[in-house]
Amino acid sequence: MTSLLSLDALEVTFTRRGLRRTPVRAVDNVTFDVAEGETVGLIGESGSGKTTIGRAVLGLTPATGGHVTFRDEDITRLRAEDRARFAGSLQAVFQDPYSSLNPARTVGRSVAEPLQALGTPGEPELTARVTGMLKQVSLPSDAVDRYPHVFSGGQRQRVGIARAFSTRPDLVVCDEAISALDVVTQAQVLTLLQRLRADTGVALLFIAHNLPLVAYLAQRVVVLYRGRVMERGPAQDIHEHPLHPYTKALTLAVPGTDPAAQRARRAARAATVRENSANAAPPPSQGCPFAPRCPNVADVCLSRRPADTPVGDRVLACHMYDPYSGHPETAVTKEPA
Ligand SMILES: Nc1ncnc2c1ncn2[C@@H]1O[C@H](COP(=O)(O)OP(=O)(O)OP(=O)(O)O)[C@@H](O)[C@H]1O
Ligand code: SF4
Ligand SMILES: [Mg+2]
Repeated sequence: MTSLLSLDALEVTFTRRGLRRTPVRAVDNVTFDVAEGETVGLIGESGSGKTTIGRAVLGLTPATGGHVTFRDEDITRLRAEDRARFAGSLQAVFQDPYSSLNPARTVGRSVAEPLQALGTPGEPELTARVTGMLKQVSLPSDAVDRYPHVFSGGQRQRVGIARAFSTRPDLVVCDEAISALDVVTQAQVLTLLQRLRADTGVALLFIAHNLPLVAYLAQRVVVLYRGRVMERGPAQDIHEHPLHPYTKALTLAVPGTDPAAQRARRAARAATVRENSANAAPPPSQGCPFAPRCPNVADVCLSRRPADTPVGDRVLACHMYDPYSGHPETAVTKEPA
C-alpha cells in the first residue's frame, strides 16, 4: 500500500510557563505511517500524547524534532501560506463539535466555510456541495438554515463530519470524535464514518481511549504511553492478543456490562499492572517509561530504553521481546549464532 502520511521520529516538547520552565516531552520519537484509504487507530491513556500527535500532523502544534511527510512532501515546518495548499486534503473532526462550530453561523455556512477558503467557484456549486454533504451525513434538508444549538450532540457531530468531508480530503484526523456521545449515537456515527470511508476512500487517523472500538474501525493500531509508542501493528491481532504489558493493561481496563466478567477483569488487571502509587511514580529517565507500573520489570528496564523491535508484523518497545536485551523473561528465542 502507498504511504499517505508518515511520522518519522516525531518529537514535541512543551516548555511550561513558570519559574522552573520544566520541559514536557509530550511526543517522543514516534514513528508510524498511514496508507492511502487506511484507518490507523491511536490509543493510550489520558496524557499519552494522542492529541499532540494529531495537532502536529495538522500543523497546529509545532514539532520540535523528527518529520511529518504527507504525499511525499515534508510538511513538518511549513510556513502558513505553504500549509494552505494542504487545507483541503488534511481535515479534522474534534471531540466537541459545539466548540468547533461557530454558534452564530448557520450549519450551511459552517459546512461551506472550508470550501470557500479553497475558493470553490460560484454560489450554485457551493450550495450543491453543501446540501449534498448534509444529505450524505443524514441531516434533514432544512439543517442548512438552522443554528448548531438546535441540534443534538450526535447531529452536531454529523455537522462537524460534513464540514471536514466537504473538501473531499485524503486524510481526516478524528480526535475522540465519538467519545462524548452516548453508546447508541456512537454506533450511528461510527457507521457513518465507515460509510464515508467506503464511499470516498479517505484515510483516517482515529484517536480514542477504547481499544475494542478502535480495533473495530481501524486496520492498524498504535499504542502510546507517555508520548512513546509501546506497540503497533494489525488492530484485530493487538486487540485479541496484546503482547506489550501496557497494551495488556489497557485491554483489561475496558469497562463491561457483565459484573462477573468485570470482576474477573479487575483481578486480572491487578495481577498485570501495578497501580496507585506506582502510577504516579516518575519513570526512570533512561529506561522504560512503563517500568514503575510493569509486573515484568527487570534491572535492564530501569537503565536502558527498549528499542523498537519487530515481532512478526508488529513492532514492540519492550525488553522482553528483544532477544538481546538481557531481560530474564525474554519472550522471543534468540536466533542460532
Ligand atoms: N500546550 C501545552 N502546553 C504544555 N503541555 C501540554 C500542552 N498540550 C499538551 N500538553 C501536555 O502534553 C502531554 C500530552 O497531552 P495530550 O493532550 O496530547 O494527551 P492525550 O493523549 O490527547 O490525552 P487525553 O486522552 O486526555 O485527550 C500531557 O502531559 C499534557 O499535559
Ligand atoms: S521494557 Fe521492562 S518495564 Fe518496560 S514494559 Fe517491557 S518488561 Fe515492562
Ligand atoms: Mg486528547
